[in-house]
Amino acid sequence: MISYFIAALFLIIPLISSATNGLSIDHYMFSCPFAESMVKNAVFQALNNDPTLAAALLRMHFHDCFIQGCDGSVLIDSTEDNTAEKDSPANLSLRGFEVIDDAKKLLEDSCPGIVSCADILAMAARDSVFFAGGAVYDIPKGRKDGRRSRIEDTINLPQPSFNASSLIRVFGQHGFSAQEMVALSGGHTLGIARCSSFKNRLSKFDPTHEVDPSLEPNFAKSLSLRCLAGDNVPVPFDDTPNIFDNDYFASVQRGTGLLFSDQALFSSPRTRDLVSLYGSNRALFLFDFQRAIIKMGVLEVKEEGEGEVRLNCRRIN
Ligand SMILES: *[C@@H]1O[C@H](CO)[C@@H](O)[C@H](O)[C@H]1NC(C)=O
Ligand SMILES: *[C@@H]1O[C@H](CO)[C@@H](O)[C@H](O)[C@H]1NC(C)=O
Repeated sequence: MISYFIAALFLIIPLISSATNGLSIDHYMFSCPFAESMVKNAVFQALNNDPTLAAALLRMHFHDCFIQGCDGSVLIDSTEDNTAEKDSPANLSLRGFEVIDDAKKLLEDSCPGIVSCADILAMAARDSVFFAGGAVYDIPKGRKDGRRSRIEDTINLPQPSFNASSLIRVFGQHGFSAQEMVALSGGHTLGIARCSSFKNRLSKFDPTHEVDPSLEPNFAKSLSLRCLAGDNVPVPFDDTPNIFDNDYFASVQRGTGLLFSDQALFSSPRTRDLVSLYGSNRALFLFDFQRAIIKMGVLEVKEEGEGEVRLNCRRIN
C-alpha cells in the first residue's frame, strides 16, 4: 500500500514540475512575499513619469526570451572581453534598464539574493501591459539568470524586413503557432519604430525602389516627410502608442502598418484573417496575447542549478 502510494507520488511529481518548467505562480510566497508588489511599484512609478517605457519593457522581455530563453541575458552590460546582446544594432529602441535596476535594488534590500533578474523583467513586462490598459494576469516565476550574453546571438531575432512566412518560421522555431505569432505581434500596439527600420519602404530614400505597394499612399507620403529629419525620428506603431488596445490591427488593416513585418501580416493570406479577427475583437486579442506572452515568458527557462540569481542585473555574479 505504502509503496504503491510512493510510486504514485513519483509519477505525479515529475508531471507537475515538467508541466510548469519548475516555475510556479507563488514561487516567492515564502521567500519574498512582497516581490510582486515591489516590482509593480517600481514599474508604475517609472511609467507614471514616462508612459513610453511600457513599450520598452515589453520589448525587452521579448528580446530576452527570444535569445537563449528568458534568462535576463538582455540586461547584461558589455565588458572588456565581451560585447553583450544589448549592444547589438537590433537594440536601437531597448531602454528602461534603470527600471529593472530600481526594482532589483528594492528586492535586494528586503530579500537579498532571492529574486532573479529574469523574473523581474517578466513581471515588469506584465505590469507594463496592465498599466497601459491591457489584461491583468499571473505569471509563473522561478527563472534563473543566465551567464551568457553575446552580441552574435541577436541575429536570431525576427527582423522588420520579414514577410509573414519568415515570421511564422522564426516564431515556429520557438513553438508558436501562426495565431500566437500574430497575437504577439499585437505587442506593437505599444511604442514606436525609428525611420531607419522602415525607410527602405519609402522611394524617397531608395530611388531604386518603388514605394512599398502595401503602404497606404497618403501614409507613405507623411512618413517620407517625417523621415526627412533623420533615421532616428520615432513614429508610433498606431494612433495610441501608450495604450494596450487592438488599434494596431486596425492600423495594419488600413495599410498603415509601420514596419514591413507589420503590414506583411495583412498582405499574406496565411495571417490576414487573424489580423481582421483581432482588429474587430479587442477582448479576444487581449486574451490570446495574454496566453501567448505567458508561453513566451517560459521559453527555455533556466532552472535551479542551470543559472544564478544575479545580485546586479547588469553583471554575472
Ligand atoms: C545599442 O548598441 C549600440 C551599438 O550598436 C550602443 O552604442 C548603444 O549604447 C546600445 N544601447 C543600449 C541602450 O544599450
Ligand atoms: C518570404 O521571405 C523569404 C526570405 O526572404 C523568401 O524566401 C520567400 O519567398 C518570401 N515569401 C513570400 C511569400 O514572399
